[in-house]
Amino acid sequence: MGKFTEALKKAAERRLERVEKKEEIKPYVIRTVADSRIDPHIVAYFDSSSPISEQYRILRTNLQAIDKPSAPKVLALTSSIHGEGKTVTSINLGITFAHDLNKKSILLVDADLRKGTLTKTLGLNADKGLSDILTNGTKIEDVLLSIGRENLHILPSGKKPHNPAELIGSQKMKDFLAEVRKKYDYVFFDCPPVIPVTDASILAPQCDGTVMILQAGRTQRGVLTHAQDRLRTVKANILGFVMTNIEYHIPEYIYRYL
Ligand SMILES: Nc1ncnc2c1ncn2[C@@H]1O[C@H](COP(=O)(O)OP(=O)(O)OP(=O)(O)O)[C@@H](O)[C@H]1O
Ligand SMILES: [Mg+2]
Repeated sequence: MGKFTEALKKAAERRLERVEKKEEIKPYVIRTVADSRIDPHIVAYFDSSSPISEQYRILRTNLQAIDKPSAPKVLALTSSIHGEGKTVTSINLGITFAHDLNKKSILLVDADLRKGTLTKTLGLNADKGLSDILTNGTKIEDVLLSIGRENLHILPSGKKPHNPAELIGSQKMKDFLAEVRKKYDYVFFDCPPVIPVTDASILAPQCDGTVMILQAGRTQRGVLTHAQDRLRTVKANILGFVMTNIEYHIPEYIYRYL
């Protein structure tokens, strides 16, 4: 065999060795599979140093800075109509608050008893949650879920009830609010939209503040004003607005500091 053929044979053997070695590290892939079940829009989970995560940090800073009459710790997140980004914003905000080095305890609640997608967006399976607590006395601690952050608890919406608005307005909901207020530093409610159903208008006034989500290029001014009027009528405390789906016309480097 010539020197050239010998060299080729050795190179092929080395390649084979590398392939075999790669197969040995298979177990590390498991973590990637677990993570990938979480919706990629949850940027605060996947890339906490990205400019988008920084925007959620700015939102956290702004919410933590509010201290009149007292710092809000129980917050409702809602919007005028469906699909404006309430769930994605609630989760990103919950994770961003959980990242705070002061190790605040956070509860993220799916308060959309009709069409809740909080657990689906997090890649979690859940058949029980808030509606079960409000109907059959299920204990809170029996239905809490985790995504691996010890100071962030997730409460699914639970079995779809036939009377969601009544449950949200019930004494049991008040008791639930009183209990979680004591147990957690911050509670975030991912609510249904304001215009089509009344649930958010019932829950928002029981919270310390409400954050309204609107979607760039979709939410109409008149519709948003109408939703705000509804919330003001029930004396909800609207703290501010989050705009989702923004296209970066300003070059990304302006947002990126490091
Ligand atoms: N900040 C964002 N930028 C771009 N797309 C987003 C953003 N937030 C959410 N989305 C996308 O918009 C769609 C709706 O998001 P999401 O489920 O959070 O809305 P929602 O207001 O909770 O909807 P629903 O009213 O049905 O509960 C999803 O496809 C989501 O991935
Ligand atoms: Mg939602």
